[in-house]
Amino acid sequence: NLPKQVQIKEVGPRDGLQNEKQLIHTEDKINWINQLSESGLSYIEITSFVHPKWIPQLKDAVEVAKSIKRKEGVTYGALVPNMKGLERALEADVDEVSIFMSASESHNQNNINKSISDTYPVLREVVDEAKQAGKSVRGYVSTVFGCPYDGAVDENQVIDVCHNLFDMGIDELSLGDTIGVANPVQVNQVLTKMEAHFSKEQLALHFHDTRGMALANTLIALQLGYHTFDSSLGGLGGCPYAKGASGNVATDDLVHMLQEMGIEQSIDLNKLLEAGHFIESSLGQPLPSKQMGISRKA
Ligand code: HMG
Ligand code: MG
Repeated sequence: NLPKQVQIKEVGPRDGLQNEKQLIHTEDKINWINQLSESGLSYIEITSFVHPKWIPQLKDAVEVAKSIKRKEGVTYGALVPNMKGLERALEADVDEVSIFMSASESHNQNNINKSISDTYPVLREVVDEAKQAGKSVRGYVSTVFGCPYDGAVDENQVIDVCHNLFDMGIDELSLGDTIGVANPVQVNQVLTKMEAHFSKEQLALHFHDTRGMALANTLIALQLGYHTFDSSLGGLGGCPYAKGASGNVATDDLVHMLQEMGIEQSIDLNKLLEAGHFIESSLGQPLPSKQMGISRKA
């Protein structure tokens, strides 16, 4: 039942860096993204056009997006919360914009300063304008498997939010385990329930690895036939408005697992690890993934 091909969407330059307190030089971000482009990745989320006061690390979003080398065959995406963000994203000419909201009321309020119902009209306008500008639009739903404030999240609420986002005309939706609380049994349950509503082609999985369960959750999704996964090189990352959130599943560990399983994909693990060493030295601290650890010892 395993898919023959998997698409990995690298979110390290956005989801990874947004949680790092220490400001990384703009030049280093550009250099890092250029290295990621050369590793065979087909999708890189390079930054986010959120309010710089909320995420100071990514205040250089326009400069980063304008300065990277765009490699043919790679899609460069970025997060956009509202019309102001879209304006900046269009100025920087990213290929795709990602809108985002939460399935739980308290996380949505803490993350984007609005109730769920007040968020819809804001995002609808962003999707309309982005489409008019010829951009594809991705959506994220956060706290699909649990919320740091509200606890358990009703699956019907998740499905409802997903329907509302698809009704706006988005091209793909990524389901976020924002705080890494999902377990394989729950992933099986939620994804099986989603099957009645959405096709596997429309959905991606975005597992954070806070409790070390992201690869196990990924395997369940693969076995159900899902084939698009978000990950962050070295496991860098988290959501700054979700207490206790840590990095995404590590791209290098995911690539390694898929290669060992014989699932075809075209990413050069060595080049990825080189890019990992580069951002490690820029951060001045080691990245938490297994593959990065092994390559440091080699
Ligand atoms: P707000 O303060 O409510 O904004 O923030 P506002 O609309 O009231 O505007 C206030 C001022 O901010 C105005 O300026 C706007 O122009 C300006 P003034 O008129 O006062 O001079 N402003 C902006 N400036 C630059 N860029 C913008 C922007 N928007 C407004 N885009 C807002 C609302 C959504 C902007 C804020 O809450 C925010 O930036 N939140 C983002 C938080 C964030 O980045 N969280 C992490 C990303 S989500 C995530 O990690 C989860 C995910 O990975 C999936 C998962 O793991 O589950 C995607
Ligand atoms: Mg995330």
